Amino acid sequence: MSKVKVLFVCLGNICRSPLAEGIFTQKVIEMGLSDHFEIDSCGTSNYHIGEQPDPRTIKNALKNGVELNHQGRQFTYADFLEFDYILPMDQSNKRDIERLRPGHERAEALMMRYFDPLDKNANVPDPYYDEEKGFQEVFEILYRSCASLLDFLVKKHLN
Ligand code: 4NP
Repeated sequence: MSKVKVLFVCLGNICRSPLAEGIFTQKVIEMGLSDHFEIDSCGTSNYHIGEQPDPRTIKNALKNGVELNHQGRQFTYADFLEFDYILPMDQSNKRDIERLRPGHERAEALMMRYFDPLDKNANVPDPYYDEEKGFQEVFEILYRSCASLLDFLVKKHLN
């Protein structure tokens, strides 16, 4: 059986998208579904290629019981071919990747908060210039959105 391939995208790939990757991966492991998913994250910019997540994101995730390990990389048009689902964190991330879409390619780009049961139309706010409160807010948004995304994908692909 082929794996469901999921890619989380933000601007820097050091705050929001590696956190979404970490949370979603942990939920997949907890449900015993690791064999069914391939999970990655990337940034639209080249600002932090090769870097681990922002220390503030790592610290906040650990406080919430999630360990992060990711090396920053930049989105490329080939990701449209490789992944089934691409989850941009905000509208500008979505615009930036859609500019690179090579025509008819298969991945769907669905806004991350489309899966947020509390607010389907919002962006995941960028916490980079914010304080701990902002990082915790992003954690909570991504925690509930990842739960609902996983639920959606399990129903669609694994039942
Ligand atoms: P992210 O946050 O897109 O959630 O990783 C940012 C990280 C770095 C920068 C901007 C946003 N930056 O300008 O370096």
